[in-house]
Amino acid sequence: MLVERTAPDAAALQAELTDLLQLEHDALPAYSVAIMALHDARLREELRAHRADHERHVEDLSALIRARGGIPLRLPHMPTGLFKLAVQAAGAPGGDRAVLLAFVSNEWQSQEKYARHAARPHDPEVAALLRRHADDEARHYAWALDALEAMGCGTGTPVGRMTKAFARFHGSTADAVEAAGRVALETVVRTLRAA
Ligand SMILES: [Fe+2]
Ligand SMILES: [Fe+2]
Repeated sequence: MLVERTAPDAAALQAELTDLLQLEHDALPAYSVAIMALHDARLREELRAHRADHERHVEDLSALIRARGGIPLRLPHMPTGLFKLAVQAAGAPGGDRAVLLAFVSNEWQSQEKYARHAARPHDPEVAALLRRHADDEARHYAWALDALEAMGCGTGTPVGRMTKAFARFHGSTADAVEAAGRVALETVVRTLRAA
């Protein structure tokens, strides 16, 4: 695997930040579905607090994209954003456990993706934002795992193991499709900047 040692140039950074902003726009509707479907008021409150973190992520990423001469898109990833929403909606009729099992699959991708981006070289302002977001996502994911553990669906149980396998498959597939989209976007930004 290619290890990047230098910070991305302006076009690559725009593509990277846009990809992460789209990840946030994937998450927000999935959160709304999960919050609507949950019966337990305490779980709903916790998810509302996490959704507020994602709303802050959108604002902070948008401000950074603008500050670096770009325009923040308000679009989910196509088609993975819709698939993530479908995963969340599929869990809705199954009760709180199913809602959280679906939720944890989507959060797994968020925390993996942010952690990967935070580990790459960036200038201090970008690095600080990515670190902050990566920490929030890791906290969301850990919370969802704890909540599932308390419902008897921890990672040691068959349903917990199955969810983990699905999260990895779903997350890695979404990652691959989104990475291809980011490369295409970077090419467009480069062409437009050169024109
Ligand atoms: Fe987020
Ligand atoms: Fe999250």
